[in-house]
Amino acid sequence: MTFELPALSYSHSALAERGMSQETLELHHDKHHQAYVTALNGFVEGNAALQGKTLEEINALSYGDEALAGVFNQAGQHWNHIHFWNALSPNGGGIPGTLEAKLTESFGSVEEFKAAFKTAATTQFGSGWAWLIQKADGSLGVTKTPNGVNPLATGEGTALLGLDVWEHSYYVDFRNRRPDYVTNFLDSLANYEFAESNLA
Ligand SMILES: [Fe+2]
Repeated sequence: MTFELPALSYSHSALAERGMSQETLELHHDKHHQAYVTALNGFVEGNAALQGKTLEEINALSYGDEALAGVFNQAGQHWNHIHFWNALSPNGGGIPGTLEAKLTESFGSVEEFKAAFKTAATTQFGSGWAWLIQKADGSLGVTKTPNGVNPLATGEGTALLGLDVWEHSYYVDFRNRRPDYVTNFLDSLANYEFAESNLA
């Protein structure tokens, strides 16, 4: 199986008015994500044990395996970025009712969810991700992961909404101001319909 870079479901300029520029999407989607896909395909080509496996299967079998650390970095990042493009929307920021009720149930309020997510995203030291997840007991939680790691690999729960906090995701638009990038995501860019669709 050869993995491919999925096209964005919106134009590269569609998020510019909401704080994610065309330049960021051209670099982040067309260059960074493409590089993960190309590298992953190189690993698959050279390793018969990976051939014919789905992306999820490669994530699972390579995570925590020292010999496959390079494979996991690329597979994890491919999975994470597919998720991330869906987690953004030109009409983002509005929280649909079912998800709002779940957020209130688990965090006390939408504002408390946002505060917890922002803490996770800003305290992830170096590169990584912040996630809204649904745990095995059905409740929602927030977590953070380093580098290419994701909740699928760690088994912490189902990823509902993930935010890339690698510098390549915000440096063009927000420079070093990661907190502002996170707040803008939560208020204006996040595709909460996508998050709701990931609920069990
Ligand atoms: Fe990224």
